[in-house]
Amino acid sequence: MLDEKAKKIMLRKIPHGLYICGVNNGEELNGFTASWLMQASFQPPLIVNCVRKDSTSQQMIKTSGVFAISFLEDGQKDIAQKFFKPIGRVGNKFGDVEFYLTKTGCPIISNSLGYVECNVVDLVEKGDHTIYVGEVIAAVVHREGKQLLLETTGWNYGG
Ligand SMILES: Cc1cc2nc3c(=O)[nH]c(=O)nc-3n(C[C@H](O)[C@H](O)[C@H](O)COP(=O)(O)O)c2cc1C
Repeated sequence: MLDEKAKKIMLRKIPHGLYICGVNNGEELNGFTASWLMQASFQPPLIVNCVRKDSTSQQMIKTSGVFAISFLEDGQKDIAQKFFKPIGRVGNKFGDVEFYLTKTGCPIISNSLGYVECNVVDLVEKGDHTIYVGEVIAAVVHREGKQLLLETTGWNYGG
């Protein structure tokens, strides 16, 4: 039998950064706070991005086949806080956040450290998050800086 308590303690020790995943469906924009993300291949350059199945963003990524990851800087917890609420509840999350669009139409946080833009090349649907495999098709550095880490926020997402 799985020791649920031990599972939670150990899985929460996996280190994570905090990002804003920008998405679109051809008509509307959206973004959500993401943490379950990592590099998965050098050549081609792949990342995996695990996206809640029940989120609006997940449906939008499925429709468009693209997403972009804005890297937040240490101290930008306030931005992460704006984007972890569902669009279905709070409406447009970009209201007072400056952004611009990539070639594929994904919103990028202007004041972030930079971003990578991805084409979805595969997906795995086994659990409550859909695992999107994204090939990095563009990358931009806005400035150097220390990235925002989940552990510095006092929040948890995992376990
Ligand atoms: C600290 C933190 C980390 C999160 N990491 C993820 C993540 O990696 N993947 C994900 O799908 N949702 C993650 N979320 C939850 C989404 O941000 C949340 O479901 C969001 O409301 C989805 O927005 P949408 O419904 O507008 O698409 C995280 C939330 C928090 C607070």
